[in-house]
Order: sequence, then structure tokens, then C-alpha cells
Amino acid sequence: MARKITFINYKGGVGKTSLIINTAACLARLGHRVLLCDFDTQSNASIWLLKLERWNPINSSGEGSVFSIFEPGRHRVRDIIIRDVVTDKAGGNPLPGLDLVPTTFNLLELESEYEGDPRRPAYLIFQEQIAEIEDKYDFILFDCPPNILRASQCGIFTANEIYVPSNPDALSLIGFTLLIEKLGRFHQLSASFRKSSMGPAAAVHGVIFNAIKTGVDIEVPKMRMQLRLNQFKAAKRTHKDARIFDTFVRDAMVVRRAVALGLPVNLLGQESPGDSVVRDYENLANELVRHAPHLA
Ligand SMILES: Nc1ncnc2c1ncn2[C@@H]1O[C@H](COP(=O)(O)OP(=O)(O)OP(=O)(O)O)[C@@H](O)[C@H]1O
Ligand SMILES: [Mg+2]
Repeated sequence: MARKITFINYKGGVGKTSLIINTAACLARLGHRVLLCDFDTQSNASIWLLKLERWNPINSSGEGSVFSIFEPGRHRVRDIIIRDVVTDKAGGNPLPGLDLVPTTFNLLELESEYEGDPRRPAYLIFQEQIAEIEDKYDFILFDCPPNILRASQCGIFTANEIYVPSNPDALSLIGFTLLIEKLGRFHQLSASFRKSSMGPAAAVHGVIFNAIKTGVDIEVPKMRMQLRLNQFKAAKRTHKDARIFDTFVRDAMVVRRAVALGLPVNLLGQESPGDSVVRDYENLANELVRHAPHLA
């Protein structure tokens, strides 16, 4: 069974999408089969990996975008997966094993016009369709916006593990606290739909510090985060093994550039691999593999 993982923080702009894409790319490089599902209306992950020329037609027609599994509901997740999504200029696949469920701007309708059947909420429809294909993957990752509205709920309900990207600042800590509160409420609301075959409701397993600038001491923000984590752990509001990850991802210009180039950072080949943000993402992917929680 695939490990199903959501990266989310209630604080926006902390690096959720950058972390999930680059970690997914490193996991695929390690030989894992990875499916990345984009649940952010901004479509940042989809535009990054497809580049505008491949994403625009999906956005214009809505065909093949994740919203099409809800409305008109003709497609299933397995029909819209873009396999080996990363392509190079020659049309080759430099990163086999990284697949994408793309989103487009129409996902916004899930939060407004979409009515659906209250007995079959969107997150249940999505979870059932992921269950059909999950044996084909080692990791299924969900990129969510900084909230727990309907789109995020799909990722959170389907996942069993949550990791919280954070910057070393007070707002990330507030975002983490808000996330724990909203998560508790969502789990209560969705409990009647959870079956044992789905595994445990997603709990926070880790905090990942991102975009750490050279020379900036993060001991104090790290200590504050640790204290907060300890409080939540003691109250059983996170997984019992939740921890701050040893790997910190540094701030690096190449991360911002990678978006424009439509590639994960590990395919850019622009940095010395021994001491670079690529190494941070590799370490993060390895740490995620090693963390392998006892989900029971
Ligand atoms: N390690 C890094 N070094 C430098 N810049 C980074 C790094 N990680 C993320 N960024 C930049 O920070 C900005 C926000 O990153 P990103 O879009 O990944 O955050 P997000 O949490 O997904 O945002 P949102 O809440 O809007 O979904 C982007 O401009 C991105 O390029
Ligand atoms: Mg994002």
C-alpha cells in the first residue's frame, strides 16, 4: 500500500509546493513510484511540472483536470493521471516514476458552485478513486492550499500522514497551531465516512523547516516549535512520534528559478551537488523514507 502524505500549514507561502515537488522528484530518483496530486486552485504544482504550454489546454477545456472527477464526474482519477510528467526539451522523460494528477483554475468551483451529494462528500469520492490505484505507487503526495476547505479535505481525508512545512518565524507557528485546531474539527466531521481499510485519519508526523537563510540562527524558532509540538503530542493531537525533521532546507535562488524552467531542482544540474539545496531535498526524501511511521 502506498504511503499517502499531505504537506500543509495554515500559513501561506511557507514553501509547501516547492518542498513537495522537489521531494517527490528525489523520491522518484531513488526509484520510488510517486503520484503527486495537486489540490491547490492556484495550480502552482501543475504549472511548474507541465509548463504553461501543456497546462493551458487543460485549463481552457477543464478536460483531464482533477475537478472533472467531481463535475461532470465522467472521469476517474486513474483516467487523468499524467504519467512520467516531467519532460525535457527533446520530449524525453528525464524523471520516470513521477506522475501527476493536475489541477486547473476551475477547482475553485469545488468551494462554491459545486453541490454534490451530502452523503458522498468530495473527499470520499476522491479517496475511493485513489484506493483503486494506490497499489501502483509507493508514495502518493497531496499539495494543498493553506486551509481545510473542500479541495484540501480531499488530500487530508485520503492521506494518513501530514508534514508541516514551516519558516522559522512566528507566523508559521501560528499556522501550525491553527492547522491542529482545524484538523481536529475536520476529523470529527468526517469520522462517519472513515472505514478501517482507509487506515488512520491523517495525523501530523513532522515539521519541516524551509528556506533557511545562510547565517541565520534558527535555534529559538526551533525551540518554540518544539515546545508547541510537545504540547500537542501530550494532548494526543499529533502522532505520538511527531518530530521536527533533522533536515532543514536552505534558502536558495535556484528554487525560485526552477519554477520558470518547469523542472524540479534536482534536474537543473546548476549547483555543485555536494553542498546545495539539491542535497537538502535528497536528505529530506531519505528522512521521509526512514521516518516510515508505525501507522497503527
Ligand atoms: N528553499 C527555498 N529557497 C528560496 N525560495 C524558496 C524556497 N522554498 C520556497 N521558496 C519560494 O517561496 C515562495 C513560496 O513558495 P511556495 O509556492 O512553494 O509556497 P506555498 O507554501 O506552496 O505557497 P501557497 O501557500 O501560496 O501555496 C516561492 O516564490 C518559492 O519560489
Ligand atoms: Mg503552494
